[in-house]
Amino acid sequence: MGACLFLSPGYPAEMPFFVRGLAEQGVRVAGIGDQPVGALPPMASHALAHYLQVGNLWDEAATVEAVRRWAPTIGGIDRVEVLWEPGMLLAARLREALGVPGMTVAQTVPFRDKESMKQVLDAAGVRTPHHRRATSEAEVRAAAEQLGYPLIIKPIAGAGSADTYRLENRAELEAALPKVRHVKEMSVEEFIEGEEFTFDTVCSKGRILFHNCAWYRPKPLVARSNEWISPQTIALKDLTVPPLQPGIELGRRVIQALGFTDGFTHMEWFLTPRGEAVFGEIGGRPPGARSVDIMNYACDADLFRAWAEATTHGRISQRIERHYNAAHVCKRAQGQGIIRRIEGLERIRRDFGPWLVHEELLPVGTHRRDWKQTLLSDGFLIVRHPQLSTLIEMADRLGTEVQLYAS
Ligand SMILES: Nc1ncnc2c1ncn2[C@@H]1O[C@H](COP(=O)(O)OP(=O)(O)OP(=O)(O)O)[C@@H](O)[C@H]1O
Ligand SMILES: [Mg+2]
Repeated sequence: MGACLFLSPGYPAEMPFFVRGLAEQGVRVAGIGDQPVGALPPMASHALAHYLQVGNLWDEAATVEAVRRWAPTIGGIDRVEVLWEPGMLLAARLREALGVPGMTVAQTVPFRDKESMKQVLDAAGVRTPHHRRATSEAEVRAAAEQLGYPLIIKPIAGAGSADTYRLENRAELEAALPKVRHVKEMSVEEFIEGEEFTFDTVCSKGRILFHNCAWYRPKPLVARSNEWISPQTIALKDLTVPPLQPGIELGRRVIQALGFTDGFTHMEWFLTPRGEAVFGEIGGRPPGARSVDIMNYACDADLFRAWAEATTHGRISQRIERHYNAAHVCKRAQGQGIIRRIEGLERIRRDFGPWLVHEELLPVGTHRRDWKQTLLSDGFLIVRHPQLSTLIEMADRLGTEVQLYAS
């Protein structure tokens, strides 16, 4: 048996857990990344059988060539895994170059390119926002005229709501155009009103072995446009409630239409005031920003290991039941510079007791992060509770009562 090539085993923070999961399934894992081996988190370096450091992982031609030369020296590579959005196309190229099974470039493009994604889904009859592709300001204007307002403009290959704008009218469009001049290709879309949810799965051979729904409070674009907000992602306990059913059904059809077979998927969808589910986007990877952790807290499970077992042996043998709603709440410090103090946490700890399951705020004395550049902001807290109304109250208290101050 050849090794499993794992892209970027040390970053983001979740990756070492997936690497360990694979190693526990008896897989020989060969990591490749641009970190020096000594900089890898110990969990990753312990689980890796081999590691190749390259100068720039994202230089596709150079990385493919390096792997081609490396593979025979480690007994061959018969599988390529990546769980991070920027590496998805690279992984597909590597599979093709090495002749190993898994998602090809053609199969991966609809997961990366928001326009071809929606074209495939439109053809399958899935409800997507009305949309156009635009490669110039003139095309954006023409698409806006056709679609009408309100509108969303966003990069074709976007992430983290970067360069994404909601536009109410032509004046706002003209004001936004100079800000997105550096983006080569834009998607222009009908704005969908409503709440935003996720539908996340672990699949094997096209079968969904695990699924999850999370609720964004507020919607990501709002959270990413207002610094004072402490964004929440809530993994929901009860997935049988009626409002979620159209989204779950939509998600199943999307996975089928895109021909996804093995691994994690992460879909975002809108629930309109009329109760309709409208597709947002899908990634062929787990949700980032520690969302796998909230699935684990909701289910008392280990989805890192479940993913490894599903993709290696086609099953999940852990018993996974949803016992809790689990909320991930990001915090953004007030002020700039160094975090000087954190207020409100002591009282929250006393009041919440064991329901506060995870604390990962930046410690006092560290420089705060650029809130536009990171989904995790200046750290996060995770709280869980069997009752949704109580959980929401607790998550909101984390938003208002816990405050970080920087100066
Ligand atoms: N057609 C739309 N109607 C309403 N809101 C939209 C629409 N398209 C995007 N948005 C908002 O903008 C956010 C970012 O858009 P999208 O998810 O497509 O891009 P992204 O940058 O890849 O996302 P991510 O933050 O998940 O990486 C969405 O989560 C949603 O809040
Ligand atoms: Mg998104």
